[in-house]
Amino acid sequence: MKRIKLPTHIGFIMDGNGRWAKRRFRPRAYGHRMGVQNMFKICSHAFHMGIRIVTVYALSTENLSRPKEELDELFELFRTYFSKKKERMYELNVKINVIGDLSVLPADVRDSMLQLMEETAHLTSGLLNLCINYGSRQEIIRAVNSAVSYGRFVDENSFKELLMTGGLPDPDFIIRTGGEVRLSNFLMYQAAYSELYFSNKMWPAFSRRDLQKAIENYSARDRRFGNIREEKQ
Ligand code: IPE
Ligand code: IPE
Ligand code: MG
Repeated sequence: MKRIKLPTHIGFIMDGNGRWAKRRFRPRAYGHRMGVQNMFKICSHAFHMGIRIVTVYALSTENLSRPKEELDELFELFRTYFSKKKERMYELNVKINVIGDLSVLPADVRDSMLQLMEETAHLTSGLLNLCINYGSRQEIIRAVNSAVSYGRFVDENSFKELLMTGGLPDPDFIIRTGGEVRLSNFLMYQAAYSELYFSNKMWPAFSRRDLQKAIENYSARDRRFGNIREEKQ
């Protein structure tokens, strides 16, 4: 049997919570709660499969313009649900890193995110990047401004270091659920050579089996990076 080639770094654009709930005649907040639950389920499965880095898009910079009630519900989930899942991270030995501009979030949300990072900082088997109030354009502009403030020119390597993903390898594979075929300001610089996968399943319904299928699809792809030979296995 052919060996499955796993991505080292996988990204999830977890879209479709609201529509999933609406189809069930439930409020959007219910969709978000089930979405966060599914996030931990799918991420755990990814780590079990042997994927080392998972980056999830939980809230975009642009999402901050949603109605206050929806944001409050999301913040409540970030505050409570994430810290409840700490034990799970210990079991998996996975460190959590929050990426995005936390400065404009309510102070208690920011504090609970910082606490989560601190409490998992020593875990070494995997890394879960939570993108909260994250936007790729804002990230790039921030990186450019820091280069300017240091008064230095950048090359690809030094520029990468200035991004919020720092020294991490680029995502090999990005999965977007919810049926839309766009990046919506997610890791646009880092995704230059990422393999993209779009699923019509709404995020709360995206299952372990769906992830398995997506990985099999990834594994069969030929990544050429502009060259003419097949990637070496
Ligand atoms: C994704 O689900 C989660 C966030 C953006 C916070 P949506 O809330 O965008 O769900 P849909 O796309 O409206 O169904
Ligand atoms: C992308 O979903 C952001 C997240 C999943 C966090 P959106 O629902 O915000 O994307 P658009 O508005 O459909 O592009
Ligand atoms: Mg959406």
